[in-house]
Amino acid sequence: MENSKKHSKMPKVTILRWGHRPHRDARLTTHVALAARALGASGFILSDIEDESIRATVEKVTRNWGGSFLFEMGTPWKKVVKNWKMNGGIVVHLTAYGENIQTSGVLQRIKESEKEILIIVGSQKVPGEFFLEDFSDFNVAIGNQPHSECASLAVFLDRLFEGEELKRNFDHARMKIIPQKRGKKIIQHL
Ligand SMILES: C[S@@+](CC[C@H](N)C(=O)[O-])C[C@H]1O[C@@H](n2cnc3c(N)ncnc32)[C@H](O)[C@@H]1O
Repeated sequence: MENSKKHSKMPKVTILRWGHRPHRDARLTTHVALAARALGASGFILSDIEDESIRATVEKVTRNWGGSFLFEMGTPWKKVVKNWKMNGGIVVHLTAYGENIQTSGVLQRIKESEKEILIIVGSQKVPGEFFLEDFSDFNVAIGNQPHSECASLAVFLDRLFEGEELKRNFDHARMKIIPQKRGKKIIQHL
């Protein structure tokens, strides 16, 4: 009961992955999507480009491991952001140049908005427009050193959800891991 109470308060989060280069970024983009799903996000949008292999992998993981996770691709990023804002959501751009999540009050301000959140992560150098008020409501740095979209997303989600996402149950799973001190135990429902 306590868990589901807390979980119902978790803000709804979707990730927008910008700048995917199919050959170079396939593995990392897949990891960003899988980390998003496992760490409490509701969906993933691969903007501006389509990549069927990523869709197939993410949808297979969701079928096997449960929960609902929206996967979309191909829509231009500006259109995604405009629609998101029109529907009352806020946009958080993860960037090494933004307000430091540890030393500023940016996370508190995001939480206080109580709105659905679109998180933008880049891959190659992002357009300058991402930093503008018209597009991002918050530019958030997971420390002001450049590192990785996957790492920054994971830290952001864990802080946003305060660790609650790690206890979450994924409905209708075909496979479920039973945690063990050693070895592997999986229950399979076919
Ligand atoms: C490998 S970085 C590319 C950075 C690129 N060279 C640039 O100057 O924009 C890819 C993405 O990781 C995320 N990222 C990297 N370091 C970050 C940090 N310290 N805080 C938040 N996000 C970060 C950003 O979303 C960035 O677009």
